[in-house]
Amino acid sequence: MSDPLLDAILQQGAVPAHVAVIMDGNGRWAQARGLPRPAGHQAGMQAVREAVEGARNSGVKVLTLFAFSQENWQRPPEEIDALMALLEEYIAREREELIAKGVAVQFLGDLDRLVASARAAVDETVRATAGGTELALNICISYGSRAEITRAARMIAEDVAAGRLVPAEVDEAAVARRLYTAPWPDPDLLIRTSGEQRLSNFLLWQLAYAELFVSSVLWPDFTRHDFYEAIVEFQRRDRRFGRVPI
Ligand code: FPP
Repeated sequence: MSDPLLDAILQQGAVPAHVAVIMDGNGRWAQARGLPRPAGHQAGMQAVREAVEGARNSGVKVLTLFAFSQENWQRPPEEIDALMALLEEYIAREREELIAKGVAVQFLGDLDRLVASARAAVDETVRATAGGTELALNICISYGSRAEITRAARMIAEDVAAGRLVPAEVDEAAVARRLYTAPWPDPDLLIRTSGEQRLSNFLLWQLAYAELFVSSVLWPDFTRHDFYEAIVEFQRRDRRFGRVPI
């Protein structure tokens, strides 16, 4: 566990409460080794463990991972099947350890599209880990930010139509309360791996004031040390939230 970067983080003290991650580069990692793309996702599972450990060790309270986007449903069926199988495998293998480590898992996205076995595994994991108080681990699957915001708008329209809400009461908090992420503060830091500099329809509302950190590492090679590097960089940033320094 000893890592000079971790010591530096803990000494500096200002740790982001919520870190979001776009886990990118699994396909390129596999291609570079002449392997099929699902082999990259398989290798990416170890990096998920690393990120969870990095978050726990440094005192991050919420970790939100982008595992499968709504757009990913358009990938070849073999790749979708492999990703769903991996999700179930991760859940089955890690559940006891996540409980032991105090990690509360949630899945954010249009979960109705999951196959029945994946949906059952997801629901059971949420239930079994609900008591965790060390880290909230949010895994975004079948997730798209525009769809999430549209869903919130629809819920508001329904509440107005039913007389539960008047239009004048529709403020930012009213929208935020209807997003999947309602229980948690907005991310302070977004990490994207593999060098790509895009948001890819991820947490568009919630990332309004997040610091962005792009790592050139492909996701399967990402370690807790890389996670610490992102936090050290975060601690150097001057966050102003649109204001001037005082
Ligand atoms: C992006 O790489 C990554 C994904 C679409 C899937 C991420 C999934 C995992 C890390 C494994 C399972 C995760 C959990 C939480 C159990 P890409 O395929 O877009 O890579 P490329 O840009 O190099 O093609």
